[in-house]
Amino acid sequence: MASRESDWEGVRLHVVTGKGGTGKTTVAAALALALAGDGRRTLLVETEGRQGIAQLFDVPPLPYEERKVAVGNGGGDVYALAVDAEAALLEYLDMFYHLGRAGRGLRRMGAIDFATTIAPGLRDVLLTGKVYEAVRRRRGTRPTYDAVVLDAPPTGRITRFLAVNEEVAGLAKVGPVRGQADSIMGLLTSPQTAVHLVTLLEEMPVQETCDAIDELTAAGLPVGGVVVNAVRTPLLKVADLTAAAKGRLDREEVSAGLVAAGVATRPGVLDALLAEAGEHAARVALEKSGRKTLKALDRPTYELPMLPEGIDLGSLYALAEALCAQGMA
Ligand SMILES: Nc1ncnc2c1ncn2[C@@H]1O[C@H](COP(=O)(O)OP(=O)(O)OP(=O)(O)O)[C@@H](O)[C@H]1O
Ligand SMILES: [Mg+2]
Repeated sequence: MASRESDWEGVRLHVVTGKGGTGKTTVAAALALALAGDGRRTLLVETEGRQGIAQLFDVPPLPYEERKVAVGNGGGDVYALAVDAEAALLEYLDMFYHLGRAGRGLRRMGAIDFATTIAPGLRDVLLTGKVYEAVRRRRGTRPTYDAVVLDAPPTGRITRFLAVNEEVAGLAKVGPVRGQADSIMGLLTSPQTAVHLVTLLEEMPVQETCDAIDELTAAGLPVGGVVVNAVRTPLLKVADLTAAAKGRLDREEVSAGLVAAGVATRPGVLDALLAEAGEHAARVALEKSGRKTLKALDRPTYELPMLPEGIDLGSLYALAEALCAQGMA
């Protein structure tokens, strides 16, 4: 963990995206644990306001404040932050205009609601601004966080989200807003950032992964690794899978196997089992073609197993360990 070189040495900001429901939050949390080697400190950030991190780490809902939520695999500390656009706006205004009291007034008036509703992009500007601040922050001579992991918006929105400051820079030709936008884009397009893609071995997530890589590349954003999540081990041998896919499993043999295993072969059970084997074989074949498509992307690729019991804190550490072992951290 701490001694072995990771594939992302020098990366300070790990952005984790993927199709909805593929495991972005899970993988981001596991990566934050994996990166917390001895004496290191990582920050896990969520932006979707769903308190997914608090649930995963079994802690009370996160306020708009960094909290230590766990000790990483290598003994380092993992902090977490749920960024809230409104709080980030007040913080931002206060930083630039020292609006302490006036800011509270703004909140009362609902002005922020108004501003973020009329300008959807503003929300993303604030969220990326906060992430930038966390990456750049220092305590003494060292960065406060050795690595920041962002549980980011899904693939459909990721490029727009990360490139939003490009639009800001286009609007503000000069001045502090322009300077801030340029600094954020500078970090996000630099080798200090890596945008990782989480996928399942299913057609749609694999397709979205390919599309997102194209979009990110076109926008000059640094594509990181591909994390293939929830990988299942085939239950049958290759020859049996081939036979099952073609509906040619030997009925007699399966029936004899059931008898040997002491399973009563009621009518219908054998057919249902054979049909299930056929579906399983079809899925394994699809997974194989998904793997082939992903391989052609030629990105560092990591696999995480499907954990039948679901995800709890213990399994999160196991996933982190798997990421370390494969060189992602
Ligand atoms: N390797 C795995 N094994 C078993 N279950 C998993 C695995 N990875 C994720 N899950 C489960 O799948 C579900 C979706 O995972 P997660 O919430 O991390 O996805 P997400 O991409 O963040 O979803 P959303 O798009 O809704 O934010 C969760 O219930 C999670 O516990
Ligand atoms: Mg999520």
